Amino acid sequence: MIINKPRNIKSLDRCIYGKGTFDQLDEILSFKRKDNGFVVFLLDDYFNGKELENRIPLKNQDILIRISAADEPTTDLIDEVVVKCKKHSSSLPVAMIGIGGGSVMDVCKAASLMVTNPGYSFEYQGLDLIKNPGVYSIVIPTISGTGAEVSMTAVLTGPVKKLGIKCDFTVPDQVLLDSELIYSVPKEQRFYTGMDCFIHGIEAIDGRHINEFARGFAEKSLDLCREVFLNSKISRELADEKLMVASYMGGLSLTYSQVGVCHALSYGLSYVLHTHHGIANCIVFNVLEDYYSDGVKEFHEMLRINNISLPKNYTKGLSEAEMSKMVETSYALDHMWDHAIGANWKEIITKDKIRALFERM
Ligand SMILES: [Fe+2]
Repeated sequence: MIINKPRNIKSLDRCIYGKGTFDQLDEILSFKRKDNGFVVFLLDDYFNGKELENRIPLKNQDILIRISAADEPTTDLIDEVVVKCKKHSSSLPVAMIGIGGGSVMDVCKAASLMVTNPGYSFEYQGLDLIKNPGVYSIVIPTISGTGAEVSMTAVLTGPVKKLGIKCDFTVPDQVLLDSELIYSVPKEQRFYTGMDCFIHGIEAIDGRHINEFARGFAEKSLDLCREVFLNSKISRELADEKLMVASYMGGLSLTYSQVGVCHALSYGLSYVLHTHHGIANCIVFNVLEDYYSDGVKEFHEMLRINNISLPKNYTKGLSEAEMSKMVETSYALDHMWDHAIGANWKEIITKDKIRALFERM
């Protein structure tokens, strides 16, 4: 049975995969440089003063904007990036390049759209609200798991909601996957972001919108996650190569399918506590044995093998207003509940049930 009319998927135009491919960036950009304009490089400020910064093919006319990934990206941040671009030149950039994790890639995807669309970015949080295609965008992950490198969503926290700018134009034009760039990611951060990928696979499969196209990507992504996180003998180098592909495929599994209960709750958690997406998912998934029993068992095994301890009593001491906001934010994510539980989800999922789960975290 077809539940929805199939979406005509917009894919990336180009993808380059392989160790050391970052050094091909200048060559990849050369065809855009012919237009004689400037390029905007958005760099995760984690790389300030690090070797990668010196390898960026920055020319005189370009601008480099450092992005703090300490907080999840906001609509205000996107608008600031757009203002910087417009102050720099009255013409549009020929390309925008995001080098960093999911946050920086989402900033790149959203800002590349907002330089060609009027108004403020919060006005475009939702599905298919963008009118004009953005400038040429390239994303270069330096941590793997979010799937932001391939997804059609740029997730932003706005004044009233955390929601993606989601449309065909959001898909980047080019992705560069160089596993050397994720080699230095600290263990905990790598695990939490890797689990975002694992949870994408579990949630994509365990819901009513899955189809065989999405399942193909989700299953392979999950297999790769298991090779990375359930095998303590695997070398970091090989694991990084696999994790990079797992993230990419996990992102593709969501083009037809959806995330589910974990993401609905983790959006609420992050909206109130500004918790990073990866760790927020882990804190939530840890208590979802009633919804994803096999996946949660595997997750606990992954925690053990990788020697990761999750924060405890995470929601303890929240005010009534904060807890209510968390519950309301999660409850409002209709499309995720619909996918995970069914069209009648409101008969099964109550706000009290959501609150009880938050209280266990
Ligand atoms: Fe996610």
